[in-house]
Amino acid sequence: MKNIAVIGAGTMGNGIAHTFAQSGFKVKLIDINALALETGLQTIVRNLDRMVAKEKITETDKKKTLDNISTYTSIADGVIKTDLVIEAATENLDLKLKVFKQLSEVCEENCILATNTSSISITQIAAVTEKPDHVIGMHFMNPVPIMPLVEIIRGYNTSDTVTKTIMDLSIKLDKQPVEVNDYPGFVANRILIPMLNESIETLYNGVAGVEEIDTVMKLGMAHPMGPLQLADFIGLDVCLSILNVMYNGFKNPKYAPCPLLVNMVNAGKLGVKSGEGFYDYSEHKKAEKVSKQFADL
Ligand SMILES: NC(=O)c1ccc[n+]([C@@H]2O[C@H](COP(=O)([O-])OP(=O)(O)OC[C@H]3O[C@@H](n4cnc5c(N)ncnc54)[C@H](O)[C@@H]3O)[C@@H](O)[C@H]2O)c1
Repeated sequence: MKNIAVIGAGTMGNGIAHTFAQSGFKVKLIDINALALETGLQTIVRNLDRMVAKEKITETDKKKTLDNISTYTSIADGVIKTDLVIEAATENLDLKLKVFKQLSEVCEENCILATNTSSISITQIAAVTEKPDHVIGMHFMNPVPIMPLVEIIRGYNTSDTVTKTIMDLSIKLDKQPVEVNDYPGFVANRILIPMLNESIETLYNGVAGVEEIDTVMKLGMAHPMGPLQLADFIGLDVCLSILNVMYNGFKNPKYAPCPLLVNMVNAGKLGVKSGEGFYDYSEHKKAEKVSKQFADL
């Protein structure tokens, strides 16, 4: 496996492209939004520069990594002659079904189709393709170049061969794969996101302020980052989508999104990506300070 395509150049897509390219794969990074591609590439350059400054890689490694990445605004053009496509587009069921239906029509016969979805059913996504045994979840963590885990989610029809190929590939990327089954939220988000929702509920109920809640969890539970700050980094819209998938999937009120979270998303306060969430990222320095904290994880 040498040639891969990544769909979506946002928070996760650019990190996935960076990771594969740094491991020597030829990566075609695809986004319908040309500006998102440009911003995604700038993020990759910034993150590589940080790695060079920390002497984790050399200038030559940086150049080789960037040379391995090409960009496309059309899925049909970008996926030509690829062995693996990893979809990391916006967390929206209809969008993912549409993308996978198209992938099934335009990709090479043996191409493996992976999704980085945080919560949407792999089995449901696979059902719109011609080869559901070739569809799998490859759930990277944010920030992708730093976090060692990849949650590998087997859909109902995912074959043993495809699962083994993706498990082995993750190890080649220097990641630790963990195989899990396909139920809403899988493992990581089924446990994490209700905790973030509960932190928002704690704020909503007036038990404590933003910094107080985050400090309790950082200093008391040894979490490297407070839950409200983590929600800002994940994106409040992403957190809300995941909660809705679990709420609808399990029909259990314990997954109901906190009304404050819903209000913030409706108001466009999505966290770091929109410049404001539980914290204010509008002042350059503040954002820089928080990004640094994140990059040091
Ligand atoms: N943010 C996280 O911490 C995180 C962690 C793990 C998994 N995920 C999952 O990764 C996926 C991407 O999340 P994100 O946070 O990177 O989102 P994002 O909003 O940062 O980026 C999504 C990108 O997808 C692009 N896009 C939308 N429709 C497209 C299409 N039809 N074709 C090509 N590109 C398209 C958008 O232009 C955007 O650039 C989601 O499924 C999300 O649940 C997110």
